[in-house]
Parts: sequence; structure tokens; C-alpha cells
Amino acid sequence: MEDRTSGDDETQGHPQGAPRAPWQATVLTLFPDMFPGPLGLSIAGKALETGIWALKSLDIRDFARNKHRSVDDTPFGGGAGMVMRPDVVDAALDAIESEPGPRIYLSPRGRRFDQDRAKALAAEPGAVFVCGRYEGLDERVIEARGLEELSLGDFVLSGGEPAALAMMDAVIRLLPGVMGAADGLTEESFEDGLLEYPLYTQPRDWKGRTIPEVLLSGHHGRIKAWRRDEAERITKERRPDLWARHVKDRPVDPSRGGRKRSQNDRRDSRRDDEKVE
Ligand SMILES: C[S@@+](CC[C@H](N)C(=O)[O-])C[C@H]1O[C@@H](n2cnc3c(N)ncnc32)[C@H](O)[C@@H]1O
Repeated sequence: MEDRTSGDDETQGHPQGAPRAPWQATVLTLFPDMFPGPLGLSIAGKALETGIWALKSLDIRDFARNKHRSVDDTPFGGGAGMVMRPDVVDAALDAIESEPGPRIYLSPRGRRFDQDRAKALAAEPGAVFVCGRYEGLDERVIEARGLEELSLGDFVLSGGEPAALAMMDAVIRLLPGVMGAADGLTEESFEDGLLEYPLYTQPRDWKGRTIPEVLLSGHHGRIKAWRRDEAERITKERRPDLWARHVKDRPVDPSRGGRKRSQNDRRDSRRDDEKVE
């Protein structure tokens, strides 16, 4: 079993506020070496080192009961492929009974994972990720254990591991102490129900492509308004589903001819004449 826990000091990585245990990610997989994988590097890797989160990955094969250590069998009713045995996965779940958080089965049939679910998981003490392989898990263990089925998207992966890694990444960067305020979590896509506005950096002129003048104006209010308008335009064009939800949810602003106000509108009205450095 791969066990990456923080050391003795539970406050490690949480310089402010009350002592906090690491967010505990527990993974049941046939490929424990895939973890932490990319999450051992960069932001998530640093957070793992400092004990903001901890990882246990268990090999489901260790819970196989026969001498061949088989974890799968042919589907009743016939058909292609193999199915993961309920008794083996159940025994693996027994072994991690004391680990915190919801029991998630990565599955293309599941509810689509999104930023709200990532935030909710970050507020939990941890999560357990059950990674399927072959054609997936026997239905009975999903039912008996009340596993929450979560999908990464409408496509089929060869296993749950890349989906678990992606979901863990989305959660870890939301944990307190992982990203600084300067990293701008509050202005990211989905924060206001909108996709992010276009981003620009140096050089000002790149291959004849310049940047929008307003971003050089120094007017915080105008920049905010431009960014909000762009975020709205992009969301409307690319994600009509998100746009419809955004329009429905935001409050009405009489000063904008009945147009509904976004969080950014409200911030802008306070800062309209403020200049950025
Ligand atoms: C080859 S897939 C099985 C696909 C399954 N027979 C189906 O048609 O829905 C093997 C495993 O990959 C994982 N998986 C595949 N696609 C996924 C997705 N979009 N989101 C989350 N997990 C996925 C699941 O754990 C699944 O059990």
C-alpha cells in the first residue's frame, strides 16, 4: 500500500487558523503505481509534501480470494469483456472503513463532476476513489456500499484512475494553504457561473497581435467591466447551458435597465473610479 501521510505535525502546511488534519485521499485501484503520478509534482506535489493532503492507494488485487488473485469474471448474461467481482471490491472497502469521506466510484454513468462537487469534496475530511477497470464493477457492490457514481465527462476511459487524478487535482487546489490569494481562485471559470475572460501577458505586441486597449487603461472599473462582458460573451457562445443557469440565478439590477447583476457588477459599482497600479 502506498501511504503518503504528513509527518507527526498535523498543523504542517496550515500556518493560519486551527490545526487541520490532511485531506485524506484514499484510492482503490488495480494500478496503485499510478498515484500520486502527476499529483506528486507542482502545486499538488508541494501540498502533499507539506501535509495539506495525504494519499493512500491500495491494490484491489490484494483482496482477491483465490490462488490466481483474480479480481474479475465474465458477465452473467454474456457479452464482451470482464466485470470486477463484488466480493473483492467489498473486501477492499472493508479494509479502508476508517478512512474519511464519501465513497466515489468513477464511472461514465455517474453524475458529471463539476466545480461545485470539487468544492464540496474539499470541505470533507477526505474522499475514497474506487477506480474501475474492464467493463466496470458488479452492480451489487455499487448498491450495497451506496457508492456515489461520478463521471469525468461523456467519454470512456480505460480505467477510473485518470478520472480520480483529475478530480483529486480539482479538490486539492481548493484546500486552504494550497493556492495563494494571488493565484486568483475567486476569478476563475465557474466562480460566478461564467467561463473565464481572455488573458494576456507580455509582449504587448506578439506577431502583430496586440492586446485590448482597456487592459492598459489603468481603470480598475473599466477593466472589470470589460472582463465581465467578455466572460459573459464567451459563456453565452460556448456554454449555453451555463449561460442559462447564470441568467436565471443572478439578481435583477434596475440601474442596468432591468439587466440582472453579476457579482462582478456589484464589485465594480464600489470600485468604478479606482485606479489599478
Ligand atoms: C472501459 S471503462 C468501462 C465502461 C463501461 N463498460 C461503460 O460502458 O460505461 C472502465 C472503467 O473506467 C472508468 N471510466 C471510464 N470512463 C470514465 C469516465 N468518463 N468518468 C469516470 N470514470 C470512467 C470507470 O471506472 C470504468 O469502470
